[in-house]
Amino acid sequence: MDSKAVFIGMDLGTFKTSVASSTGVRDVIPTAVGWPKDAVARTMLGRDVVFGKDLAEHRLALNVVRPFEKGVLKYTTAEEAGVDATAVAAHKQAAKLVVEHAVSLTRPTKGAPIYGVIGAPSRATVLNKKVLVEAAQSAFDGVMIISEPFSIAYGMNRLTDTLVVDIGAGTLDICPVYGTFPTEEEQITVPVGGDLIDETFLGLLKQKYPQARVTINMAREIKEKYGFVHDVNEKAIVTLPVDGRPQQFDVTEQLKAACKTLVPPIINGLRELIGRFDPEFQTRLLNNIVLGGGGSQVKGLDRVIEDALKEFGGAKVKRVYDAVFAGAVGALKLAMNMPAEHFHQLKTATAA
Ligand SMILES: Nc1ncnc2c1ncn2[C@@H]1O[C@H](COP(=O)(O)OP(=O)(O)OP(=O)(O)O)[C@@H](O)[C@H]1O
Ligand SMILES: [Mg+2]
Repeated sequence: MDSKAVFIGMDLGTFKTSVASSTGVRDVIPTAVGWPKDAVARTMLGRDVVFGKDLAEHRLALNVVRPFEKGVLKYTTAEEAGVDATAVAAHKQAAKLVVEHAVSLTRPTKGAPIYGVIGAPSRATVLNKKVLVEAAQSAFDGVMIISEPFSIAYGMNRLTDTLVVDIGAGTLDICPVYGTFPTEEEQITVPVGGDLIDETFLGLLKQKYPQARVTINMAREIKEKYGFVHDVNEKAIVTLPVDGRPQQFDVTEQLKAACKTLVPPIINGLRELIGRFDPEFQTRLLNNIVLGGGGSQVKGLDRVIEDALKEFGGAKVKRVYDAVFAGAVGALKLAMNMPAEHFHQLKTATAA
């Protein structure tokens, strides 16, 4: 491999994209692109595309596209996706722009070839790696698309006898790792995740406190700060506006109930996957369960899963140290260790 090459690991999630580079830079942005709604908005913003925290700040002036939301890019044709061709094109363009922007944030050395490993949302990987390779075309010289749970395991050096549970915004992915690249059939993907907690929590809050004004974003922020599933003595008391005036509300019960909606799908998924292996291997997998993704930060989730798996003779559940960067860092490590021929070459070599 070219000694001047720059390596980049990327976790291209539905909700956020994180990158880590061999040059030592890492960063995270929402997986979203904003285009100014009209000429006035364009002039005000002074640019044609908006990324990062400016998306929230200027959301009223922007058409925001989240390329991996609702699986639009799962389908190759617009008819299949049930949306018009312009929407599919906008999603593809947005995916490409997010990848380019994330790479530019790492400030790669000018002129050096860039090799990337992308840990992709399972919904996109299962159906359409081609779309991802296209999205990566302009940003990388060579790319490898791998499953996100695998990059988490690789980053933690847990290459054998490990079960990774990646709890993202839109999906829950469970993947067994035993020394090779997992195949798509071996992984389980369930369409539940952090978004479902937010929606359930919002519904319960509106039921209990109809007078409070609360949005889905506020529900998510409260969950990210206080979210828990175990028995605790603390209370989650938050301030919400009532007719424009702030008031305090105890949301402990509603939050716990909403966070708990993830537990049965996780346990069912683990049961199903573990059941596919022979008993000796089952015990080894149970003793090596890793929780990753933003949803792994729900407090007490590791213990609640361990309790639910007692009937199998016990389990050991550990969370990743850094839920935001674990996937990107694992992908970077893989990129740096892979021989060149494993990369999908995107640019034809120029005469040296
Ligand atoms: N501290 C926290 N406690 C609970 N949930 C959190 C916390 N931080 C982030 N999350 C949730 O994690 C989810 C995002 O997880 P992640 O960043 O792994 O998603 P993603 O990789 O973009 O999505 P996917 O894997 O579904 O494509 C969101 O629902 C977010 O609210
Ligand atoms: Mg993810």
